[in-house]
Amino acid sequence: MSDATAKKEERRKFQAIRGTRDLLPPETALWNHVEQTAHEVFSTFGYGEIRLPIFESTELFARAVGGETDIVSKEMYTFPDLFDLAEIIGRMRDVTIELGIDPGNEAKWQEKGHGVAKKVLEESTVTLRPEATASVCRAYIEHNMQQLPQPVKLYYMGPMFRRERPQKGRYRQFYQIGAEILGGTDAPGIDAEVIEMLMTFFDKVGLQGATLYINSIGHNADNCRRGYVAQLKAALEKVKDKLGPDSQRRIDTNPLRVLDSKIESEQAIIAMLPHIADHLCDECKTHYAAVKRQLELRGVLYQENWRLVRGLDYYMRTTFEITAPGLGSQNAVCGGGRYDGLVELLGGPPTKGIGFAIGEDRLILSLQESGKGKAQQGRDVYIAWMGERAYAAAVHAAKDLRKAGFSVELPPVEQKFGKALGQADKLGAKYALILGDNEVSEGLWTLKTLSTGEQAKFPEPDLLEFLSQQKNVSS
Ligand code: HAM
Repeated sequence: MSDATAKKEERRKFQAIRGTRDLLPPETALWNHVEQTAHEVFSTFGYGEIRLPIFESTELFARAVGGETDIVSKEMYTFPDLFDLAEIIGRMRDVTIELGIDPGNEAKWQEKGHGVAKKVLEESTVTLRPEATASVCRAYIEHNMQQLPQPVKLYYMGPMFRRERPQKGRYRQFYQIGAEILGGTDAPGIDAEVIEMLMTFFDKVGLQGATLYINSIGHNADNCRRGYVAQLKAALEKVKDKLGPDSQRRIDTNPLRVLDSKIESEQAIIAMLPHIADHLCDECKTHYAAVKRQLELRGVLYQENWRLVRGLDYYMRTTFEITAPGLGSQNAVCGGGRYDGLVELLGGPPTKGIGFAIGEDRLILSLQESGKGKAQQGRDVYIAWMGERAYAAAVHAAKDLRKAGFSVELPPVEQKFGKALGQADKLGAKYALILGDNEVSEGLWTLKTLSTGEQAKFPEPDLLEFLSQQKNVSS
């Protein structure tokens, strides 16, 4: 490398990786507000927070979400987590013994070595979580939560990772706020209450124009979804040549996902396909009807959407999605549904389950678009001080004001009052506390209200009281 190239390389500007982004103030104040509201609302419904690892064994997601899904087949960030050569050799020895191969038998090694290496690699492979339902179920089993009073109600928030094509509202690192309710019964009141909690949260956070769509995709039996899928497949085969390549492929891999298609030319064809509601078994039909009644009882408005099948394999019966305005094509701000059987699929006891995940990035975008999300991060008080004695008083004043909950900016170096007031304005401060040597000698401090320009003098002890009163008036 030439010196010039090396220098250029040194000066290279690093940027966040495609599909990831920095969340900056003042926007982060809005994120905190949304998360705080979730903590508050979810706890009123009896949910406790679970904090999960960011990566898990790849097999967990493959099994839970489904090998044929977009997430597992092409979007996961997966890597072998082998630390060093000694660890690799150690694992290979273990697997060799596990498979009943004599490590000293060279010929056998030649024959089986490839399989051993493959198994070691597969077993050591980890994945950045693309979603968290699988992890919650894993934790439920691992911590024997079936022995707790049922159902167990958990919520989580944090980053998820999917290698999708980035666009507005779609990122490779995105954030979810989710909740899961595991164990106990599958009474329709549970489905309705989960959705009620979600809508209460959206309402509290100020989301406008949200639409709730619901559906039932039945359960995996011949007299229910399996029978429907067979009919759907047959109907799709008849119109195969009118469908695009993705839908054509899905006829074989996962015919239900064809219903998810957003391709304009396929819409009229899809509209003619058989509806799942006409093929639900009696139990699933009754359950769905009861969920709708329970939603009405709670005053939750919904629209039915027979095409709502969701993109993950673990769902059965109730599925739901919420869309919000201002998001363009990525307008699903939340998705969820029932997944009885998932815990069992992951090696636990038969367990009922239902939950949802909100796309926090999209929720924030929608709040911002509707003007609800104006995050304010101005300071309450900017202390404009001049002179050494004034600085000592300013340090104490800052301490007292912060203790009382005011946000205070104390400039570290002396500034002329004019410049200090300009700075206070730029920072969006409500008040400037003017402290010069005169103020300190007189024991009278000057407070300027920056929006009106009004100034008033206060003895030091009265200042805090005045500001507290003003705060109470405005809040
Ligand atoms: P999901 O529909 O894959 O469901 O994701 C839920 C929500 O996460 C979506 O509605 C969307 O708002 C947001 N989201 C998904 N992918 C992205 C992305 N690339 N960028 C930005 N936001 C995104 C699940 O993840 C299930 N685990 C939900 C669940 C919980 N079902 C039962 N319990």
